[in-house]
Amino acid sequence: MRADPLTARRPLLADHDQLGHLGIGARGDEPGEQIGGAVKGHDQQDTRQSVFFDCFSAFDERQGTIFRAESRMMNRATTASPSPLRIALIGAGGISRAHTKAFPLFPNRIRLVAVADTALSAARSLAAENGADVSAFADHRELIAEARPEAAVITLPHYLHYPVAKDFLEAGIPVLVEKPVTHTASELRDLNALASAKHLVLMAGQMRRFGSAARHVKQWIDASPENFGELRSFDAVVQVNVDAYTGGKTGHWILDGLKAGGGVIASFGIHRVDLVRMLGGADFSEVTAIGRFDAPFLNGAESQASVLFRMSNGATGTLHANGRAPRTAYMDSFTLHGTHGSIMEVAGPLRYATTTGAVTQQWGHQHEGWMDAPDSSDPRDDAFVQQLLEFAASVQSGRPPSCNTPEMNFNTIACMDAIAESLRTGRTVNVAKL
Ligand SMILES: NC(=O)c1ccc[n+]([C@@H]2O[C@H](COP(=O)([O-])OP(=O)(O)OC[C@H]3O[C@@H](n4cnc5c(N)ncnc54)[C@H](O)[C@@H]3O)[C@@H](O)[C@H]2O)c1
Repeated sequence: MRADPLTARRPLLADHDQLGHLGIGARGDEPGEQIGGAVKGHDQQDTRQSVFFDCFSAFDERQGTIFRAESRMMNRATTASPSPLRIALIGAGGISRAHTKAFPLFPNRIRLVAVADTALSAARSLAAENGADVSAFADHRELIAEARPEAAVITLPHYLHYPVAKDFLEAGIPVLVEKPVTHTASELRDLNALASAKHLVLMAGQMRRFGSAARHVKQWIDASPENFGELRSFDAVVQVNVDAYTGGKTGHWILDGLKAGGGVIASFGIHRVDLVRMLGGADFSEVTAIGRFDAPFLNGAESQASVLFRMSNGATGTLHANGRAPRTAYMDSFTLHGTHGSIMEVAGPLRYATTTGAVTQQWGHQHEGWMDAPDSSDPRDDAFVQQLLEFAASVQSGRPPSCNTPEMNFNTIACMDAIAESLRTGRTVNVAKL
């Protein structure tokens, strides 16, 4: 693979000054604090925060979301050096520890204060792992009343996202909700209206947007129209052995269309759908889907689906997903082709290449010139960690999150609705607008 010119020209960790022109008051933990064996200072912290704004601002402009997002004033005034945000975690299941690993890394910005899970023993274990002062509850409403968190992260089965997020928003508490943020676009409209009325942050947990390789490739796309150009086509593949997820347990919520809001697409394919939107800088406008509905999936959940897409910029694409892939616990991949360059992630790193005007005509040359997007192994750059920091910074500063606001996430959820309807009816379905 070639050396990456983007990294050489423009480091992934952007310059401190970039915060200024975007009006962001980033702050670091205490200088000299020990992280992963290294002593860090303010600079390391602050530049990490700035990456998102550098990365997502151009995308936002194209989507017209900067204007909409900025028109919402959040409920906390900017403070020079606020104390760590007191966060509750609702759901102590499989993915909860991907979120909690952020707390010991950034103790001066975020603090876990309480965990709720109907399985109280799970809540207690997770709480105990995070400190003696973290309280555990079996009911999130008790947690709201007693722990009084300043923000909450919701990692529950999908059908509980809407009612539980609503309970928090009604109590005046901002929420970061795991993907898919809601079952349906109409639920998202509803939550968005509530969050807007109360000036609270509502953020969708599409964490792939915070991955360092994805951010890097987005920077490359935005750096010059000669790099990738306009998205023309994409092909995505998602293969999951759902038994690996459920441990072979029949009746698990993720198999049940009523609880998961769909099957392999809503639970797993959604990551690639959202990444195509991020990198392609366009929304989905129309889908046509065919599928199968095999056990152990039930209640209308698709076990596999093949979907044709049309996007608002005229791009077309496909997604093939199979939730019963016998030999593949989890694999998702895609290729995207723009007017000037290509991107691929197929059983390896996220890679990108541009033709710089020349079309690759020789078979023997088609694998030349691809660059690997650097994927940071620093735990502080982890996508879940960065997502939580961005959520906390948004809550504390009073500015909207740099991505995954309800407005930005709406097309992803509306696309899930449209695929489900197309699978049911066999028709081509227009993707709803906010
Ligand atoms: N971003 C990713 O890569 C990723 C990966 C896995 C899961 N997820 C998402 O995370 C969410 C949770 O998935 P998971 O794999 O952790 O599920 P899980 O089934 O392992 O955990 C869910 C937990 O919620 C608890 N629970 C159920 N009802 C509850 C209630 N009313 N109040 C409190 N707790 C309750 C359960 O006891 C369980 O411990 C889903 O939205 C899923 O799509 C995201």
